[in-house]
Amino acid sequence: MNTQYLMNNYGTRQHTLVKGEGCYLFDRQGRRYLDALSGIAVCGLGHNYAPLTQAISEQAATLLHISNLFNIEHQARLAEQLCQISGMEKAYFGNSGAEANEAAIKIARKVGHQRGIDKAQIIVAQNSFHGRTLATLSATGNPKVQAGFEPLVEGFVHVPFDDIEAIKAAAGPNVVAVLLEPIQGEGGVNVPAADYLEQVGQLCQQHNWLLMLDEIQTGNGRSGEYFAFQHGNAKPDVITTAKGLGNGLPIGACLAKGEAAEALQAGNHGSTYGGNPLVCAGANVVVEAISQGDILANCRARGEQLRSGIAKATEGSALVRQIRGQGLITGIELTQDCGELVEAAWQAGLILNVTAGNTVRLLPPLIIDSEQTEQLIATVAKLILGLSQ
Ligand SMILES: Cc1ncc(COP(=O)(O)O)c(C=O)c1O
Repeated sequence: MNTQYLMNNYGTRQHTLVKGEGCYLFDRQGRRYLDALSGIAVCGLGHNYAPLTQAISEQAATLLHISNLFNIEHQARLAEQLCQISGMEKAYFGNSGAEANEAAIKIARKVGHQRGIDKAQIIVAQNSFHGRTLATLSATGNPKVQAGFEPLVEGFVHVPFDDIEAIKAAAGPNVVAVLLEPIQGEGGVNVPAADYLEQVGQLCQQHNWLLMLDEIQTGNGRSGEYFAFQHGNAKPDVITTAKGLGNGLPIGACLAKGEAAEALQAGNHGSTYGGNPLVCAGANVVVEAISQGDILANCRARGEQLRSGIAKATEGSALVRQIRGQGLITGIELTQDCGELVEAAWQAGLILNVTAGNTVRLLPPLIIDSEQTEQLIATVAKLILGLSQ
């Protein structure tokens, strides 16, 4: 394959995959790999999920695109489904996670302006990841993502994650919103205290701030509830999601209620492709499948099996610092950097990812079965225990 005309922003990619089926991917030689990445938390229903393939094939033969100058039936239905699941009132659709967050950031600023705050501030967390556009990389709490792209978009105040006192200390007259991931994905699968989001929500209510949750990675069943905030009592005003929403179709959504739901009016925001008939026809099938319950129950059970299995198989190893996660987002933090495990896993017929330098991140499809989970546990444990210290 000639890759010389591709920009180098993804570095040199070693391998090519050409086909997927359920929890497996295949290379050109027909070699099979267990997928514990799901296209980075995207293909929750696995690869080549038949009802989705059928829905988008039919939609492609009917109507691909008309623009947002017209009503789109599948878009209205998708908005209804997502609002009913999340308790939100309105939806906006873009094409990616970053675009969903851009919409949320614009909503927060617009609400600020309506309240007479011209220099709105949004409190965000260190180690967060919110995207690669200029506003979302400025919100992101990782200097590596920002380096070289200054000047950053202003108006973001970074505080330590899972630290309610830090948010209290950041309060000020220009703050309009708090934007957080319920579990930090790219930052190393950081799971906060069970009541953290609820406490942040209470603080938001006291100060009249918007609670905005970035469920781009954690949403659509990944954590074992449809949205991760639904494990607790937090009451968000804005939710962003993408990734698993389209199971591979490019779609992102910003959901909002109350004042936030009314902030964007005609002419304030938009996207040519966002929420087009094709992606919404597909996403409706995905949302119906995940919200119906069995997949969420499987996700919770397999997640427990995975974490307890890896804990048992690596018991006593000085290499494992912590195993954490919820549902089928799992991080295994090691005492040393472990980027080489990605290639070692490939050689062992497994696709996984390493994040934050020293954390093996496992994001298998939500439909992974018990046997496949055992295979995943055995391979991951062997890889970790085989690392030279
Ligand atoms: C929590 C979170 N927010 C935002 C994004 C950006 O999404 P996208 O790459 O679709 O723009 C990601 C992607 O990894 C993410 O994990």
